[in-house]
Amino acid sequence: MAGRVAGKVALVTGAGSSGGLGQATALRLAQEGAHVYLTDIDRGGAEARATEIGHGAIGLAHDATSEAGWQAVLARIEQDHGRLDILVNNAGVAILHLIEDMTLELFERQMAVNMTSGFLGMRLGVEAMRRAGNGGSIVNISSVGGIIGLARTHAYGASKAGLRVFGKGLAIETAADGIRVNSVHPGMIRTQMTAPLAAPDPVEQQRRVSAVVPLGRMGEPEDIANCVLFLASDEASYVTGAEFVVDGGMTAQ
Ligand SMILES: NC(=O)c1ccc[n+]([C@@H]2O[C@H](COP(=O)([O-])OP(=O)(O)OC[C@H]3O[C@@H](n4cnc5c(N)ncnc54)[C@H](O)[C@@H]3O)[C@@H](O)[C@H]2O)c1
Repeated sequence: MAGRVAGKVALVTGAGSSGGLGQATALRLAQEGAHVYLTDIDRGGAEARATEIGHGAIGLAHDATSEAGWQAVLARIEQDHGRLDILVNNAGVAILHLIEDMTLELFERQMAVNMTSGFLGMRLGVEAMRRAGNGGSIVNISSVGGIIGLARTHAYGASKAGLRVFGKGLAIETAADGIRVNSVHPGMIRTQMTAPLAAPDPVEQQRRVSAVVPLGRMGEPEDIANCVLFLASDEASYVTGAEFVVDGGMTAQ
């Protein structure tokens, strides 16, 4: 099959939500010829999104904070294809509170879902890529919150900054294996995660967005998926340890 990632084997975590970045990314990879596995803590969501995508996509249950969960998913993929070429660490939650309300339990949950999951994915994903010996591409879905500070995003931002820097260090370590590691930093993208932040009045919502986004609109999941597709493909064969901001100019100001 022709395509920008034709024949490659890809795993996208946190891909079970309808209209999420994981679903959009899995779709673009599948459209460009990859064998795609969508995983999510929500098994029904992962299976439903895989069915919607078609192209032979497979949905699996997977708590990305569980080492045993990672081992099971990677064993399944290696059993099916003998290798993993593309890993997109996308699973995440946003636990946003003022500092006085950020309990240790909430902080640890934030770090577990966004950062520990990425660590496990990178450690076990690199092992799988090394076993196959074909190199690979790891894309960590960070956030503009991993680069700049915003009120109530200290813990979320710390987890996303952790992913960003972890990936840079790993990129150096795995360069000799042909395994590239990069991060994508979405701004305000229209998904279930950002739905609660929207103003009920569309005019007020547009005013708020225009005030902070030079391109004057929220991003769509496809805006992120297209960037991930590039990084996952051989078109990005000289790109590693890099960070890609996709935010309509929000952080350029
Ligand atoms: N939407 C945005 O504006 C935005 C901006 C910056 C970064 N991001 C990041 O993009 C990623 C995707 O976000 P989204 O907007 O599609 O959100 P979403 O809420 O639609 O999707 C997140 C998915 O992660 C899954 N998930 C949660 N905990 C999990 C776990 N332990 N194991 C496996 N899956 C788990 C959820 O079930 C859900 O399907 C997240 O990492 C998020 O932090 C989103």
